[in-house]
Amino acid sequence: MIYQIYPRSFRDSNGDGVGDLLGIIGQLDYLKWLGVECLWLSPFYPSPMADFGYDISNYCAVDPIFGTMEDFDHLLQEVHTRNMKLMVDFVPNHSSSEHPWFQASKSSKADPKRDWYIWRDPAPDGGTPNNWLAMFGGSAWEWDEQSRQHYYHGFLSEQPDLNWRNPEVITAMLDAMRFWLDKGVDGFRVDVIWHLIKDAMFRDNPVNPDYQPDMATYNQLLPVFSTDQPEVHEVISQMRRLLDSYGEKVMIGEVYLPLEKLMRYYGLSGDGAHMPFNFKLLETRWDPNAIGAAVENYESLLPKDGWPNWVLGNHDQRRIASRVGKSQVGIAALLLLTLRGTPTLYYGDEIGMEDVQIPKDEIRDPQGINMPDKNLSRDPARTPMQWDNRPFGGFSEVAPWLRVSADYEEVNVRKQMSNHESILSLYKQILSIRQSEPSLQIGNYRTVLITSQLLCYMREEQGNPAFLIILNFSNTDARFESRDSLAGDVLLSSQRQLDFAFFSNGFSVLANEGLIIKLKK
Ligand code: GLC
Repeated sequence: MIYQIYPRSFRDSNGDGVGDLLGIIGQLDYLKWLGVECLWLSPFYPSPMADFGYDISNYCAVDPIFGTMEDFDHLLQEVHTRNMKLMVDFVPNHSSSEHPWFQASKSSKADPKRDWYIWRDPAPDGGTPNNWLAMFGGSAWEWDEQSRQHYYHGFLSEQPDLNWRNPEVITAMLDAMRFWLDKGVDGFRVDVIWHLIKDAMFRDNPVNPDYQPDMATYNQLLPVFSTDQPEVHEVISQMRRLLDSYGEKVMIGEVYLPLEKLMRYYGLSGDGAHMPFNFKLLETRWDPNAIGAAVENYESLLPKDGWPNWVLGNHDQRRIASRVGKSQVGIAALLLLTLRGTPTLYYGDEIGMEDVQIPKDEIRDPQGINMPDKNLSRDPARTPMQWDNRPFGGFSEVAPWLRVSADYEEVNVRKQMSNHESILSLYKQILSIRQSEPSLQIGNYRTVLITSQLLCYMREEQGNPAFLIILNFSNTDARFESRDSLAGDVLLSSQRQLDFAFFSNGFSVLANEGLIIKLKK
């Protein structure tokens, strides 16, 4: 299981209101206790923070707000001492506009680094070179008066895109990966990997016929020519070859594409990512039919030997507890941790943290600020981790960079650790069962039953007891009936404490209840 830490919001050790690396070190025992096997850290590199660290001005250093390189080395060592892995975020598509590379590139058309970024002349009519739009609003082209050309930025103008068609850029970026690999990191989560290469002819993107006014303006066009170009796989395989030369390392690509296209990012013969993130559940309606179909579809499209993975939240999305409601957080936990494949858990989801309404004048996320009437701010899911009932939820001694949820006295780690019925205890229990049962780790997935209330599936690994998972997505009781004669022990229920419960056909399932059943052969 991978646990995503957004360093700004995890734990502030030095009283500046922003989380830091020492703060993370202080919580490693908690993460180990929970059953985390691998950490993924969102960016902690030097950054002007226009996009909170996804705008990097030095790929091989630590921003002082998060600590020092010694702190990082210490963190890596402490993670490894606990037998966990550490993945870092790698943001190759764009740097900060304050990166010395871009400063050089911008300084003149003749600068040797000019071609490290994507510069184009204006269109014949004086307008932008083409119609491409930036993810965070407006045109993706920024005019530079001094050199009288536009540069391309798929996100903020403070995040110019690097030119991955330039071999010098590839060399420099692979060197940055090497820097962290030499330190001993276990892998990378690669930011917007499907954006790396753009159409060589810079053709206009077509209009999106399904655009709705509440969508980000970016969605007015289909990014056919600005993303997911066939040549991207060549540069990804260069990254992969580098990783492979270090032995057992992992590369997970951030890719938001339809599943058919996503699968191309699996690099099973060593020419791509180990896994492209599977974000399907983030957009699937929360009901057994829709979820069951999404799982089946994903399973059926996976390439042979492609290892699945599942995501229910991250720093760009709404919190799962807010999406599905408090009564369903246990079902979400069970689904995430019992489907076949590697789950990624977003910090705070294990205690059921919800989206926090941030007043307009406190909004920090540029996506929210740039498109104020569209409700696109990602701040609600980035609020400080709630550790205990002290002021600011024990996150910091001072008012944090983003407000803490008002519910922190109830919803916090300390309180939930001592409550066996808490969502945190449920996560821990599921993880501990998962870790000791081969069928739940590597077993096949098979749908057993889908009704308007229930999604039930089997996980089976030869030579080991099979597991039946029953999830009630509704807030009324339900009945599990099967034509096969099934019998076993209920190992866990999300709704009741069970010392021992025998399971057989014709089982009554409580409202919102999820069950893990170990079947008898
Ligand atoms: C990715 C990150 C997001 C960031 C964007 C630009 O989607 O997850 O937080 O804003 O890339 O780097």
